[in-house]
Parts: sequence; C-alpha cells; structure tokens
Amino acid sequence: MTSLLITGIGELVTNAREAGDGSELGIVHDAAMVVERNRVAWVGEAARSPAADTSYDVGGRAVIPGFVDSHSHLVFAGDRSQEFAARMTGTPYSAGGVRTTVAATRAATDEQLAANLARHVAEMRRQGTTTVEIKSGYGLTVADEARSLAIAEQATRETTFLGAHVVPPEFADDPDGYVDLVTGPMLGACAPHAKWIDVFCERGAFDADQARTVLTAGMAAGLGGRLHANQLGHGPGVQLACEMSLIAVDHCTYLSDEDVSALAESGTTATLLPGVEFSTRSAYPDARRLLDAGCNVALASDCNPGSSYTSSMPLCIALAVREMGMSPSQALYAATKGGADALRRDEIGHFRPGAAADLVVLDAPSYVHLAYRPGVPLVSEVLVGGIG
Ligand code: NIG
Ligand code: FE
Repeated sequence: MTSLLITGIGELVTNAREAGDGSELGIVHDAAMVVERNRVAWVGEAARSPAADTSYDVGGRAVIPGFVDSHSHLVFAGDRSQEFAARMTGTPYSAGGVRTTVAATRAATDEQLAANLARHVAEMRRQGTTTVEIKSGYGLTVADEARSLAIAEQATRETTFLGAHVVPPEFADDPDGYVDLVTGPMLGACAPHAKWIDVFCERGAFDADQARTVLTAGMAAGLGGRLHANQLGHGPGVQLACEMSLIAVDHCTYLSDEDVSALAESGTTATLLPGVEFSTRSAYPDARRLLDAGCNVALASDCNPGSSYTSSMPLCIALAVREMGMSPSQALYAATKGGADALRRDEIGHFRPGAAADLVVLDAPSYVHLAYRPGVPLVSEVLVGGIG
C-alpha cells in the first residue's frame, strides 16, 4: 500500500486542538499530511514530515476537512421555482408546498429519481461536501418511501426515513390513520434501508404527540432519532427532541430561553439551516446565543426543492457568519465536525490519525475566505479517502 504526502499546505484545519495551535480548529501553518489506506496517518509541520512513497505539493493553499452536510432531501422530482418567485414578492412559505413535490416524485421513474439525486450529490461534491445525509419524505406511500430510501442508500450510508414529512392528500381526513401507516407497514419496508428516522414537527405537519409516536416506533426498530422543529414558529419540537435525547434537532429558527437551556443540558445538536431563512425570506436565528450557552451546533444545507434549494456548504458558512453571528471558525467547525457529530460519525470531520482522508483544498490562503469571499468558487480539489 503506497503512502501519499500532501505538503505545501499554507494553513491546515485539523479540527483537533492537540494536533494544532490549541484552538478548536487545531490549525497548523506550513503543514503536511500523510495518507495511508485512505486514512490520515500523520499531520504536522511540513518541516517535520516523515517520508512517503509519493508526494503532492498544494502550493501554499489552505486545506480543510470535507464538509459534512447532515441534512438534505435529495430524492425528489419536479421544480418549484414559481413558488420561490412568489415568496420573493410576499407569499409566505408553508409546509403544504411539500405536496407539490410529492406529486412529481410519485410520478417519476426510479431512473429519473436516481439520476436527479446523483446530479445533486455530484454538485455537492464539487463544492466540498464529502459526506451527505439524505432523507426520504416526498413519496409518502409504502412503495414510494421504500424506493426513495433504496435510491438514497446507493449514494450514502446516512439515509433517513421521513415518512412523517406531511400528511399526504389521500389521508387529509385521517391524519392518525397516516401515522399508523408510517409506524406500521411503511416503517417495516423502510427500516432496512435507513439509519435514521425523522419527523416534521410543525404547524401544518405533525404535532408533538404524533412526532413522539413516530420517533418511538422508529427507535424501537433500531433507527436513530432526529427531528425537524421550530422552523415556522415557536413550538414543542425542540423540547421533545431534548427529552427523547435525539442526536439532532434541525432548523431551530424560533427558540425560547427554555429551548436553549434544554439543548445545552441534553447535548442534542441544534442544526442550523441558513439556506432556509435565505430562501424563505425569514429571520435568521442567533447562533451565538446557542454557542454562548454551550450547545452543540451544526450547519447543513437542507437542500430541497422547496425551502432551500442550495447544495452549497460554503454559502451556508457565509450566511451563518454574516446573518447568524457565528465567527468564521465557529461556522467552519459546525459545517465539518458539527455535522459529523450530528451523524454520530467519529472518523470524519477532523484529521486526527485514523480519520478518513476526506479533504478540501481551497483556492485561498485561509479558511476565513469561505465567508470573506461569498459566492466565489474556492473549492479547488476534493479528495475522498485521499483520492481525488
Ligand atoms: O426541511 N421543513 C420541512 N421539510 C423541508 C422542506 C420541504 C419542502 O418545502 O419541500 C425543510 O425545510
Ligand atoms: Fe429538512
């Protein structure tokens, strides 16, 4: 097995304090990394680097861990650009828009869904995302949810069953009947293809009792729990997530002081999705409030055709810095190690020896440029397991 020395790294972000300057990002200047068997074997100052079979000089550019996008909805068909245009002239976002995509997704073939998903995953990869979580939730029948997850698992091991996204039109008069379907036959067909279970706990979708029922059934079937909550207004979702010790609760746009305390005490990660506030013209949450309280915070794209049709983690970082009060270092950490923690993955999102050699070379001298130069394509190379 050959080893690769990546050298000439002007600024290396390791996300490991002890490996670098003692900060959260564990920065090493004039750095190098040795990759062996797709894993990080060594990181440190280039002047001290061990010998390797081959070497690659990145010419003073910055290197960061690949982005870990812990929240996306990429199994879909159709387009909602007219809904976006209407929102920009004053129509508010509502959970009901999901049903437009459900109709288009049901009408699509497996091949169309798989091709659309592959195109979006490739788009993410070009922008530095090396791990992505993908949810179902636009099928809402047993067969359509199961095929959505079977397609998603071709692209990632981070698959999430979101049968409880909204109540589909055919169950409009019987929402509890739909919850029975989700927790019974649909869960049975989907659990073999999923690692996680999720619910949209919001006005217009599912209430806290329904969410608890779905999460309890999913967790009993061996899935990890996560939740969409507090996106459109204050609500019970964040408290429910903390009480159930879920790994993550996502959106967190509207938080009470009690919600913030519960997040800090439970350790449940609050995943912020700034693309949603951008694309729905909503007020951004204050990330600093969460960070100052000691909460775990992740940043993700929520890439979906309705509320946030961006696949760009660099854009999310820039928005989190400019609009949510994060420092550039806090935003980068949340988009890498924060996402890894939100997926319970120890071996990604950092460069301790043994970690996956998933890395991004930036066309910039520092990671700070991700926020400093918004909208500029700074991701110049992406290596997964040390391979480009
Ligand atoms: O995470 N909030 C619920 N689900 C998606 C939006 C889905 C849609 O509008 O199609 C979200 O924002
Ligand atoms: Fe979402």
